[in-house]
Amino acid sequence: MSEHPSTPPLQEEDILLDHNYDGIQEFDNPLPGWWKAIFLGTILFAVPYTWWYHFAEGNSIYDQYEADVAAQEAREAAQPQLETDAKGLLVLMQDDTHLARGKATFSTICLACHAADGGGVPGLGPNLCDDFWKNVKVIEDIPNIIRNGVPGTAMAPQVSLSPNQVADVAAYVASLRGTTPANPKEPEGEKIAPWGN
Ligand code: HEC
Repeated sequence: MSEHPSTPPLQEEDILLDHNYDGIQEFDNPLPGWWKAIFLGTILFAVPYTWWYHFAEGNSIYDQYEADVAAQEAREAAQPQLETDAKGLLVLMQDDTHLARGKATFSTICLACHAADGGGVPGLGPNLCDDFWKNVKVIEDIPNIIRNGVPGTAMAPQVSLSPNQVADVAAYVASLRGTTPANPKEPEGEKIAPWGN
């Protein structure tokens, strides 16, 4: 039996690091295996991920965006072009699918200035539900105004809309005439004849 009985090897969690910060000391505990496995996993994952999305052709979000835009343009080009003359708009006004599409556009873009129900917003867009119009004399003026805006006013050209979206939202606007909005803005412009006359 030796004088210095061999002390059992220190448990890993009992190895004390030799620094001491204002009385605070640390054990040198290893990180758990599962933690290290996840950490290593993220590093390994990053290598193919970075290659695939940043260096390989055609996979970056920019490439995906361009592919999506090209696909959408091809879809639109494949659709028959809607007519925006008076006859075409009057036909669209009878078609629930087109009115629903027009309403979707209106509820995203136009409501900010014309109100969700088309009643108009004080200081912004006019009421689109009454018989008084500032720039519109006949129904086919509506798509022109949507495309070109009214220069010098807040009504800007709606350049983000495809030609068929313009047709659908124009038909929807025309269909608002005669409806009763919650807070109608006072009439502006001149009283015009019913659509199609
Ligand atoms: C930033 C505000 C704004 C947005 C957004 C807006 N408009 Fe307008 N719009 C106006 C204003 C202001 C006028 C009136 C211009 C004038 O004083 O002649 C107007 C006029 C119109 C007119 C003619 C009304 C008339 O009395 O002759 C139509 C039609 C119209 N907007 C449709 C739309 C549609 C459809 C959208 C959405 C695609 C839209 N507007 C989005 C502000 C806006």
